[in-house]
Amino acid sequence: MSQDRIERAADALRAGGLVVMPTETVYGLAADALDRGAVRRVFKLKGRPSFDPLIVHVLDEAQLKRVARAVPGWVRLLTDAFWPGPLTLVLPKRAAVPAEVTSGLSTVAVRMPGHPVARRLLRAFGGPLAAPSANRFGRLSPTSAAAVRAEFGAATPLLLDAGACRHGIESTIVRPVRGGFEILRPGAITAEQIAKATGRKVWSAGARTPARHPEAPGLLKQHYAPRRPVRLLAAGWRASPPPFRKGDALLVFQLGWEGFPGVARVLSPRGSLRQAAQKLYRALRELDASATGRIFAELVPERGLGPAINDRLRRAAGTTSR
Ligand code: TXA
Ligand code: MG
Repeated sequence: MSQDRIERAADALRAGGLVVMPTETVYGLAADALDRGAVRRVFKLKGRPSFDPLIVHVLDEAQLKRVARAVPGWVRLLTDAFWPGPLTLVLPKRAAVPAEVTSGLSTVAVRMPGHPVARRLLRAFGGPLAAPSANRFGRLSPTSAAAVRAEFGAATPLLLDAGACRHGIESTIVRPVRGGFEILRPGAITAEQIAKATGRKVWSAGARTPARHPEAPGLLKQHYAPRRPVRLLAAGWRASPPPFRKGDALLVFQLGWEGFPGVARVLSPRGSLRQAAQKLYRALRELDASATGRIFAELVPERGLGPAINDRLRRAAGTTSR
């Protein structure tokens, strides 16, 4: 990526415009986080309801201090281990962050991305960038430039194409609470990794939490959804498979299904959940484009990245309990 292109993108941001920014998780639709007009443009292009707050991306500690008021001491265990990287922290916000970014909450979700192009953009722009995933509201997150163009067509803003995203699934959103960490959205960093790196208690998404708090906004039941209806296949489905029809599509983790009448994708023939996460959205997009019936999606094992992948599959099917 030429420095010229990065500078052009930074100029567009300074003019209050939007830029599609690659990150290690998914592509983001970036705007100056401290410019409420620019932030409103993000909501407008996405068709996103104003009650669903954005994640603010920072280059370093100096930019972090401009948006977050305080970082509790024990939270450093987490940032030292995973920043820069696919981890988002919910922290008390500074007044400079417009209410548009946080949907009026007193907290702001912040992450320090590790993707070299995201970091070059943050440096060239010189300030924090609000960026949700670069998709229309409620749809699948884009993990390639082609997926972003499929979302916005001619309305696609300046796009920094850096190829496929390494993790392919969104960041893990964590709320520090009572000396430990509550996962509000499972993502590219697992609960086990957080527990191991910090030695602190980790409450998983949806689990009973020690303090009452408002539901993480934006975690809607139907989200990350293809256009075709999604039906989940639970472990053991192979013993009595549903009546598949021509035009259906199939998404499986490791093993195919011989004689499936439609198009199918195997996420990881070698059974790697990392690889499955990386390919998940792309496979769902491809199946969504070619199926005329339903998309059958097999849940993956509930270890490692499994909870994050299954969370997206359940939301795609509209069957989460939240
Ligand atoms: O990997 C990612 O996190 C990607 C890349 C682009 O960084 N971004 C992303 O953003 O997934 P988005 O807008 O699709 O998801 C943002 C979610 C909101 O829907 C909400 O659940 C949560 O972050 N969030 C934002 N601010 C929050 C806050 N103050 N408290 C609790 N949750 C918050
Ligand atoms: Mg999103």
